[in-house]
Amino acid sequence: MPGLEEARRLIAAAGNIFVLTGAGISAESGVPTFRDAMTGLWQQFDPEELASEDAYRRQPALVWEWYLHRRELVAAVHPNPAHHALVALAAQRPFTLVTQNVDGLHQRAGSAGVIELHGNLFANKWLDGCGRCNEATALPGMPPRCNLCGALMRPGVVWFGEDLPRVARYRAEHAAQHCDLCLVVGTSGLVYPAAGLPGLAREHGAPVIVVNPQPSALDQTADIVLSAAAGACLPLLWPPQPAPSAG
Ligand code: APR
Repeated sequence: MPGLEEARRLIAAAGNIFVLTGAGISAESGVPTFRDAMTGLWQQFDPEELASEDAYRRQPALVWEWYLHRRELVAAVHPNPAHHALVALAAQRPFTLVTQNVDGLHQRAGSAGVIELHGNLFANKWLDGCGRCNEATALPGMPPRCNLCGALMRPGVVWFGEDLPRVARYRAEHAAQHCDLCLVVGTSGLVYPAAGLPGLAREHGAPVIVVNPQPSALDQTADIVLSAAAGACLPLLWPPQPAPSAG
């Protein structure tokens, strides 16, 4: 694969790696990416009808049901070799893992300290909560409501038009500015501010490696583009998890 040896060399020499993942790293687990022509979740719905606060206020039951469906879909799949390869890398050296994904598959594979820029599908929050809302105050329903103030429970994901979680964004941008290598896996590079992180790393002198079987908007930011599926490619970029030392 063109670029593979150079990518391996850069990764072996890097002291502080920044990894950004998108829906493509979960594609081989069977979680459809958002913009796949055939399988994209958005293919079935108008995103504005399901993934925005306005939509939730207008039709909370429909949106809540769609998220429950997505939770079932994601709970039924498993991390793939790409997720596991990042766990193996973390066993060899610390790095910062930032994901746009809400599927939690990095954590299920064993990655720790994952920075979730777009939230997590399995987390819950409250819409106009009273501040005391919590799972214990939630009355069952579609969606559940707080029995203290009547606030609606909502999925803990970032909806279109919402700001990213401030701490997550700050940590991601800080890591991008201070890394000495940026590895981008499985993102179309269409959605900002996440898509701006590789450019930020490059501005601060870090080479950028992109892993994607298709061209992406980040290719012109990249020093190396590995045109490959993440599950096949990532395990080739660094040694597998070191065998536990004998004795
Ligand atoms: N390995 C690597 N990349 C892959 C694979 C694979 N096996 N399969 C698909 N891809 C690539 C596609 O070529 C595409 O470029 O993954 C990318 C997925 O792009 P999107 O569907 O746009 O997903 P993503 O880039 O993560 O979207 C960013 O947009 O919809 C919002 O909030 C949502 O977090 C999401 C954000």
